[in-house]
Amino acid sequence: MKELKVLAVVVSLVLITYYGIEPYAHHVMHPEPAPVDYQCKDLKGVDTSLAGNAENGKTLVESNCIACHSLEAAGYPKMMPDADSAAAYGVVPPDLSSAGHIYETNFLANFIFDPVSAAHVQHKYPEGGDKMYPMPASNWMPAQDIMDMVAYLQSIPQPKAEGIEAHKATFEAACGRCHGMAYAGIEALTPDDTLKAYLGAKAPDLSQYIKSRGRHYLENFINDPQRLLHGTGMPRVGLTEEAQEEVITYMEEIGDSKKAEREGLAPWVLGYLVILSIFAYLWKQKIWKELH
Ligand code: HEC
Ligand code: HEC
Repeated sequence: MKELKVLAVVVSLVLITYYGIEPYAHHVMHPEPAPVDYQCKDLKGVDTSLAGNAENGKTLVESNCIACHSLEAAGYPKMMPDADSAAAYGVVPPDLSSAGHIYETNFLANFIFDPVSAAHVQHKYPEGGDKMYPMPASNWMPAQDIMDMVAYLQSIPQPKAEGIEAHKATFEAACGRCHGMAYAGIEALTPDDTLKAYLGAKAPDLSQYIKSRGRHYLENFINDPQRLLHGTGMPRVGLTEEAQEEVITYMEEIGDSKKAEREGLAPWVLGYLVILSIFAYLWKQKIWKELH
């Protein structure tokens, strides 16, 4: 009986620490950030309620964007090799084929309007500073023109990929110009040193970040890195909730591919421990009976 009492005390102390003290300390040291604002409601430069005209948007994109960006899905290949555009802009401009689908409308419109404030990199590119952000703002354009371009980008048909192939494509479009994923054989399009000169830091290889940071951190981080890492060079990437989920799932598929298997194994291990304890207890009873 005495053992059971000791066990009960130990178990209650462990439970109090695990469910009471630890979460409390965690919550004090790392307060839970406000829920992710996928619409990036702080961005108000463009009236996104205007209905866009995709046909006019096409003409505008052709004259304003494809000098730097490729748009392979509409037949505009890269203007120059990645190494050259990295050297010219500091970072390789992403292909825009899926931009209308992976970025939230409000973010996309406001990024075109004023990329520095949309990406929350004002601390790297202050107004009147001597460094020029590589993508020019279009805040001189009427909101209608910007919404026309958004409508055009959203009208571009997407390839019918599913599962890991689709997740990979979203990762490459949204993160691949800066981050590599060595475990999947993906190299960042922009060389490390060029990016360091551009943003003040190298972008780490993301193969293992799902393990070192965890899903919850990534969900809060990608949409607004400044909230969690004040002063970081990582720009805000205003993905839709679905696109962000695809990116994180891809990081999981590559960095933690055994997760489902591992979690599926847990009930078996626990069951084994329970049965083992029962036998151990019976065995102890038997031995003590013989001794008395
Ligand atoms: C002078 C070159 C240049 C022009 C012109 C230009 N861009 Fe960019 N754009 C860039 C570069 C460089 C980046 C990458 C910036 C970064 O990742 O920090 C970029 C990034 C982007 C992104 C990615 C945003 C994100 O958060 O990931 C989108 C979308 C985009 N541009 C759309 C456009 C559209 C639409 C136009 C036309 C109105 C345009 N760009 C014109 C150079 C340009
Ligand atoms: C324009 C370049 C650029 C793009 C695009 C970009 N990142 Fe980053 N990212 C960086 C840089 C630079 C750092 C390093 C920041 C630092 O050390 O201050 C970083 C850091 C990170 C980190 C590490 C954060 C930490 O806690 O240390 C994660 C995770 C990350 N990025 C995820 C992503 C994901 C996912 C995407 C795509 C949705 C993405 N990044 C898109 C440049 C970029």
